[in-house]
Amino acid sequence: MADDWAADLSRSREQWLPVCSLPRLAEAGIVAVRVAGVDLALVSVGGVVSACERACPHEQADLACGRVVNGRLACPLHDASFSLVDGAISDGWPSRPLRLYPVRVERGEVFINAAALKP
Ligand code: FES
Repeated sequence: MADDWAADLSRSREQWLPVCSLPRLAEAGIVAVRVAGVDLALVSVGGVVSACERACPHEQADLACGRVVNGRLACPLHDASFSLVDGAISDGWPSRPLRLYPVRVERGEVFINAAALKP
């Protein structure tokens, strides 16, 4: 059913917004996007795409300038790292977990569920 995905997106058109092409993200590894006024970082690790808040929960460094280390997103300022599964911060840091957001990939495009965003 080639049109199932289109029908699904159409039903939820107000929520799922295209934000980046998958080839661009795959090449860059981390891409900054702004969706509905919220700054996010898209991260591709081994073909798995994640979306998280762009500002580090510790001291708001730009995580889009970070790097992926052992499957975790490392902050460029103090080098704490975050799980891309549950947002957990590395041991020894007093900050809250990283906020992760629903993401899906359809036909080479990354979509964010704008209804789930929290500024
Ligand atoms: S600002 Fe990210 S670890 Fe300190």
